[in-house]
Amino acid sequence: MNDKKLHALLDDLSLKEKIGQLVQLPGEFFAVHTATTGPEQKLGITPEVVDMCGSVLNVAGAEKTRQVQDKHLKKSRIPLLFMSDIIYGFKTIYPIPLGLGATWDPELIEKDYQNTADEAQASGNQVAFAPMVDLVRDARWGRVLESTGEDPYLNSQFASAMVRGFQHDFDKQHGIAACVKHFAAYGAVESGKEYNSVEMSERKLRQEYLPSYKAAVDAGTKLVMTAFNTMNGVPVTGNKWLLKDILREEWGFDGIIISDYAAVAELVNHGFVPDNHAATQCAFNATVDIDMKSPCYANELQPLLAEGRIDLQKVDEACWRVLKLKNDMGLFEDPYRGASAAAEAQQLVTPQKRTLARKTADEASVLLKNDGILPLSTDKKIALIGPYSSSQELIGLWAVHGDTRDVISIEQAFKEKVASENLKVTSGTSLLAADSNYQEMGMTALQFENSQLTDADQQQADQDVEVLGNWADVIVMPVGEHTVQSGEAGSRTEIGLPAHQVALIKRVAKFGKPIVLVTISGRPLVLTDVATSANAILQAWFPGTEGGHAIADIIFGDVNPSGRLSMGFPRAVGQLPQYYSHLSTGRSPETSGHSSRFMSKYIDAADGPLYPFGYGLSYHHAKYHDLTLNRATMMADQTLQATVALENESDVAGTETVQLYLQDMFASVVQPVKALKAYHRVTLAPHEQKNVTFTIDVAMLKFYNQQNQLIAEPGKFKLFVGANSQDNLTTTFEYI
Ligand code: GLC
Repeated sequence: MNDKKLHALLDDLSLKEKIGQLVQLPGEFFAVHTATTGPEQKLGITPEVVDMCGSVLNVAGAEKTRQVQDKHLKKSRIPLLFMSDIIYGFKTIYPIPLGLGATWDPELIEKDYQNTADEAQASGNQVAFAPMVDLVRDARWGRVLESTGEDPYLNSQFASAMVRGFQHDFDKQHGIAACVKHFAAYGAVESGKEYNSVEMSERKLRQEYLPSYKAAVDAGTKLVMTAFNTMNGVPVTGNKWLLKDILREEWGFDGIIISDYAAVAELVNHGFVPDNHAATQCAFNATVDIDMKSPCYANELQPLLAEGRIDLQKVDEACWRVLKLKNDMGLFEDPYRGASAAAEAQQLVTPQKRTLARKTADEASVLLKNDGILPLSTDKKIALIGPYSSSQELIGLWAVHGDTRDVISIEQAFKEKVASENLKVTSGTSLLAADSNYQEMGMTALQFENSQLTDADQQQADQDVEVLGNWADVIVMPVGEHTVQSGEAGSRTEIGLPAHQVALIKRVAKFGKPIVLVTISGRPLVLTDVATSANAILQAWFPGTEGGHAIADIIFGDVNPSGRLSMGFPRAVGQLPQYYSHLSTGRSPETSGHSSRFMSKYIDAADGPLYPFGYGLSYHHAKYHDLTLNRATMMADQTLQATVALENESDVAGTETVQLYLQDMFASVVQPVKALKAYHRVTLAPHEQKNVTFTIDVAMLKFYNQQNQLIAEPGKFKLFVGANSQDNLTTTFEYI
C-alpha cells in the first residue's frame, strides 16, 4: 500500500495494536497446534500481547511460518515479521564469518549472502540478525566466530557486502532485511568474557570500533541490534548517546533499532535502573523500537504514556518504522512473501549454492604452514587420523537452520579423490576431553556421551592408530574445537588444542611420517605447541556444508590456497587482546635502545602473533619488489600512487592479496605502527609479472584527534606494501 494508506492504518490502530508492533517473541509463543500458556505466564505477559505481537524470532520453514502467520492474522490485522539468526548461511552453510573474512573477497561473500537471502525468503524469513560486524581482538571471546576479524577497514568491506547481499533487489520483493549487530563494540568485552563490560575512549570507539557499523548503515541496513554490553558504564540498550545521538542523528539511520534478547529487562540486572518500568522508559527514550523477548514494552509502555513519561508521538514513530518495513516487504499484500514448499524446493541447498559454498570454503581456508609436503599426490598411502576425520559437524554453532546431514565430511571428500586402497581412516580420539565440564558448555549428559568414544571404541582407535601410522606415507590429522566451544556464550580461558588431541599428535609424530594438521575451530587457536610437530597446517575454521570438499581441494592441489588471516593467531592466550595495528609505545622491541629486558614485550614468550594478520601461504611464490611512489609529497587535494612489482616465481597460477598499510609517524594522537588502508586481490599466471598500483588519498590519512574530530595532520607517513602485515616493502612520503 502507499504511504498515505499506511499512515491511515497507523492512525486507526489502537494503542495495544501499536505497542504490539514493538514486541518480539520467540517461536514457542506461537505454537500452532497447542494452546500453550506456559511461555506467557513465565514471561509475565497476557495472551492478548501475543495476539498483537509484531514479530517473531527463530521460526523458519515455509509450512511453519505460513501456519503461524495464518493463525496470527485471525487475531491481528498486521502480519507478523519473521526474524532469525541467519549469520553465515540459511540451509546452505558457508564458512563462519572469521573464515569469510580470510577470503578478502567481499564480492564473493555478497553472492553468498544473496543466496542466503533467497533460501531464507523461500522458507518464510524476512529479517536476518546479521551481519555481526563487531571488531574482535580477543580470541577468548566465543563470538569471534561471527566476526570477520580484527581490522576496521576489512570488516567494513564485509559489512557493506553482507548487507548488500542480504538486501539484493529489495525493491523488487527479493532479498531479506539485514539487522547489523551488535551496536556497539561488543567485541571489546573485558577479558574476552561473554556479556561483559566495555570501557574505551570515544576516540578509540570512533576510530576503530564504529566504522564497520557505519559501513552497514551506509549500505542501507534496515535494522540495527543493540549490544548486551555497557559502554563506559552505560548499558548500550539504554544508551541515548550511542543510539539516538550517533546512530540516528549523526549517521541518519531511520530504520528499526531492536534490542538483543531480553536486553531491555537486563538494564535492571546491570544495575542501571531499578525495575522494568524504568528500563522501558530508558530504552524507549534511547529510541529502541522493538523489545526482543522481555515483558517491558508489553507491560510498561501504556503506563508510561499515562504518566506522561514517554510521548505517544514517539510510540507512533516507532510503530511507523515497523509498519513501513512490513509494507516495503509487501507483507500486507502477501504475508508469506512468496514462502512455499515449491520455493524451498527451488532454492534450498541447490547444486549452484553448493558450488558457491565450496568456492567460498576454498578461499576461506588458510594455509599456515607447509614445508613442501602439500599438495599431496593421490597415489600416496594416506591415513586420516583425528576426531574430525569422518564428522559432519562442520557448520559451527550459529548455523541455526543448517543441517549437518547436508555436510560433506573430510572422509567423504577424500574418498572421491583417493583410491580406497590408498586411504585409511580413524578418529583416533574424541573431540572433547573425557573430563570436560560439558554442562558449562550447555551440553546434556546424553549429548556429551554421544560425542565421546566408548572405551571399546577408544581401544579400537588406539589399535587403528598403530596400524595406520605404520602403513601410511602421509598422515592427515583433522583436529580442533567442538562446535559448542565457540559462538555465543563460548568464552574460554585456554584456546589451544586439548591435551588429549595434542597427545595424539605427538604419538602420531613418533611414526616419523609427514603430518598435515587440519584445524577446525571457531576462533584463532594457540597452535604453538603443535606447530613444530606438523609439516603443514591448514586452518579450515568451521568450513560449512561443503567443508570436506574444500579441505580436499586444497590438500590435493586442485585449489591453490589464497586465504589470508583476518585475525592473527596468538603464541599464547596471555597475549590477548592482540592486534597488528597496535601503538609503538615508548619502548618498542623494534626500535628501543634499552637493554633487552626493558622493552614492551613478555619475558616468557616471543613478541607478536604466531601467525599475523593478513598472513597465509599458497602453492605459488610471489616476489614483491620495486615499490615506487609517483610523488614524494601529497596535499589534501591530491592523490599519490604507490606501485609495486609482483612476479610469480612458480609454475602454479595463484592469487595474491596485495596489502597496503600506512603509518602516521608523528601525530597529536599517536597512531598505530601500521593500519590497513587498501588491498588488491591479484591473480598471477605461472611466472607472470604484474605491477599493482594503489591510490592514496587524504581520507586514508585521517584519524580522530583529542577533540574527537576526524582530521589529517601534515607530516611524514610510512607506507607498507606486502603479502601480509609483517613482510613488507616500505617507503615514506610527506603530507603537506
Ligand atoms: C542472542 C544474540 C544475538 C541473537 C539474538 C536472537 O542472544 O546475542 O546475536 O541475534 O539473541 O537469537
